[in-house]
Amino acid sequence: MLKESGYQQMVGAELFEWMRKIRRHLHQSPELSFQEFKTAAYICEKLSELGISSQPGVAGTGVIAEIGPAESDWIIGLRADMDSLPIVERTGLPFASTVAGRMHACGHDGHMAMLLGAAAILRKMDLTGRVRFIFQPAEESGNGAEKMVEEGAVEGLDAIFGGHIDTHYCTGNMTVDEGIICAYADPFTIRLKGSSGHAARPHEAKDSIVAAAGLITALQSLVSREVDPNQAAVVTVGRVQAGETHNVIAEEATLEGTIRSTHPEARSRLLTGLERMVLGISSLYAVTAELEFPDFLPAVCNSASAAEVARKAAAAVISKENILSQGPSSLGGEDFSFYLQRVNGCLVRFGANVSAETGPAHSSTFDFDEAVLAIGAAWYAQVVLAFSQERVSL
Ligand code: NI
Repeated sequence: MLKESGYQQMVGAELFEWMRKIRRHLHQSPELSFQEFKTAAYICEKLSELGISSQPGVAGTGVIAEIGPAESDWIIGLRADMDSLPIVERTGLPFASTVAGRMHACGHDGHMAMLLGAAAILRKMDLTGRVRFIFQPAEESGNGAEKMVEEGAVEGLDAIFGGHIDTHYCTGNMTVDEGIICAYADPFTIRLKGSSGHAARPHEAKDSIVAAAGLITALQSLVSREVDPNQAAVVTVGRVQAGETHNVIAEEATLEGTIRSTHPEARSRLLTGLERMVLGISSLYAVTAELEFPDFLPAVCNSASAAEVARKAAAAVISKENILSQGPSSLGGEDFSFYLQRVNGCLVRFGANVSAETGPAHSSTFDFDEAVLAIGAAWYAQVVLAFSQERVSL
């Protein structure tokens, strides 16, 4: 058990129980990206329990709410994501998903519960500025944050903060870092088109599968030969689709993959290299090749000043010695980056390790330690306090 810390003074047993019920309710009723209709209605209901009015329907299923004095010279944004994943849950938890093939396997149920908990704490405080609670749809798929930004979610904000549950770390630890903490993600689709023919007479056809295989192998040299080895990067082809049957040469092959990078120059070398190889493969195998980059995701880059506020808040909640660095940037993507392109901010990680048997995020046996709900709620509230103090001392 953790020793008595700042968060336990801020989050009493009653509030913790309220958040835990919320988390479990949401866990039982997961919804996919941009389909978070029941989730949104439930969030609005919980906000109204707190006497906070909300604006649903932002970017489809997002919810925004604000508290604080009408006249103020600062506004801070706090964000939680709302969507689940297309996974069949196998945790055996008493509050497991009741929706077939849907699961909160990334902790977003916890993020919503802790942000509501923060709202419960903050509404009782005498705020000198405004706090905007941003419940965002479609973090997993569809870049919901980008749509929230388009619909004005960060309008007027001085800073934005968010946190993600991370079971690589123990409950009671948090990571706070400045700079890039999540990678640039460039998903790509490549369509190769040749011509079909009899498997036994390849000279009468143009085989798109052989071209695809050559390209997949060639792509693996992008990271090893074109990127500075000190700059982390990944090229993964995650989906290949081609052909109908064993004795027909496939006319078309489609490859889907993603490029991840953590340095702008590595990213640009990878993108140029990919374009060059796709072009090259078409002349090498006499097929036509098309390349598309749907849904680019920028890197999450925490500003130094916002990271400082996040660190102060974390020190008040879990004490200084429990604040860690995540080390080098993750190669994972996070659409929180879209907010950071417009406004100063910081995304942190909340440790919430349960046990060795529990699977990692995005697995069918994922779970997290619910004690993190109190830590997250207290941290969000402390961020607001630390931010307002920072402004006073400026
Ligand atoms: Ni997530």
